[in-house]
Amino acid sequence: MRPIEIAKGIYHVGVQDWNIRDFHGYSTDRGSSYNAYLIVDENIVLIDTVKKGFADQMLANIEAVVDPKKIDFVISNHTEMDHSGALPRVMHYIGEDKPVLCSKMGHKNLSRHFPRNFNYRAVENGEELSIGKRKLVFLETRMLHWPDSMFTFDKTEGILFSSDAFGQHHAGYEIFDDVIGDAIMPQAKKYFANILLLYASKILKLAEQISEMGLDIRMICPDHGIIWRKDPAKIINAYVTWSKQIPANKAVVAYDTMWESTRAMAEAIADGIAETGVEVKPIHIRSSDRSEIMTELLDAKAMVIGSPTINNTIFPTVADLLTYVKGLRPKNRIGTAFGSYGWSGEAVKIIREELEAMGVGIIDPGLRIQYVPDSDAVGQCLDFGRRIGAEVNG
Ligand code: FEO
Repeated sequence: MRPIEIAKGIYHVGVQDWNIRDFHGYSTDRGSSYNAYLIVDENIVLIDTVKKGFADQMLANIEAVVDPKKIDFVISNHTEMDHSGALPRVMHYIGEDKPVLCSKMGHKNLSRHFPRNFNYRAVENGEELSIGKRKLVFLETRMLHWPDSMFTFDKTEGILFSSDAFGQHHAGYEIFDDVIGDAIMPQAKKYFANILLLYASKILKLAEQISEMGLDIRMICPDHGIIWRKDPAKIINAYVTWSKQIPANKAVVAYDTMWESTRAMAEAIADGIAETGVEVKPIHIRSSDRSEIMTELLDAKAMVIGSPTINNTIFPTVADLLTYVKGLRPKNRIGTAFGSYGWSGEAVKIIREELEAMGVGIIDPGLRIQYVPDSDAVGQCLDFGRRIGAEVNG
């Protein structure tokens, strides 16, 4: 995509990654973008770069606006390689002595990412910098989502360059919220559930801090996906809502199956939950992606996890999901386990212990059915589902 002037003198010079489908284990069915921004003022400033393989595409975008050698300095809001990978090539073109402004942790991280020691300058939280008619201020956002993360705020125009925060994995020509509309919200929710949920309490503190500082945010420019120019408060409010983790009356029944017995249990359990009026999503883990399941779990009160017993333990796919969800530390959940077994049947106990270790409130010891569920067993599953539904409603 060609550069786009997103505000007077500010250009989106990033790139669209139309073809990426797996972003370190996160399914990106709509691709992604690596956004970088060029501010042309008395000083010319580049905010963030792109993934290494897209460096030349970004440099061509810059060149369509100004001679890259005229860039006075680079701001690195975030060290992760999808935003810093192109830095060495950019520095080669603009001049390796040009300053690279970053947080203190950014300085440490960048030094460890690249063998060449560029002219790093660590900025202080709240430090201001005049670049002509605009004044920039740097805001440390440590652990949102890396230790080095920071925002750059253009105080003059009210534009927040927010690094990964408020982003979405989405490639497209509709780069503004008022163009794409609500169609972007599922991608924003998925991004939050899989990248930022772990830091929910920090997000709530940051939202308070932004409100106390009285920042007049008129536009949010993240490093992925669309720019929020019509209604930046919409995504800030969505982050606050998601961070509070007040789950809906919803249950996710996530399972894997060997010979369809645990699937039959899952569907009967889901039927029982649905009878109680609770929204329920039965999900076969191997037919889905962990990042999609996590998105469904974001607002689900009940986590109901099923696995057959294999080799005295749970299915590897179920272990994968539990490990992933545990790392994102969802709060305020209830849950239980179920599964078919042949002779030993350890899976239900193992899942229950994993859920307990995540801080999930266990509402039932779990349901085990030997071999293939008969009509009596299906009845037990329906009742089990009804009990789960009653707990969700309670
Ligand atoms: Fe988009 Fe944390 O990198």
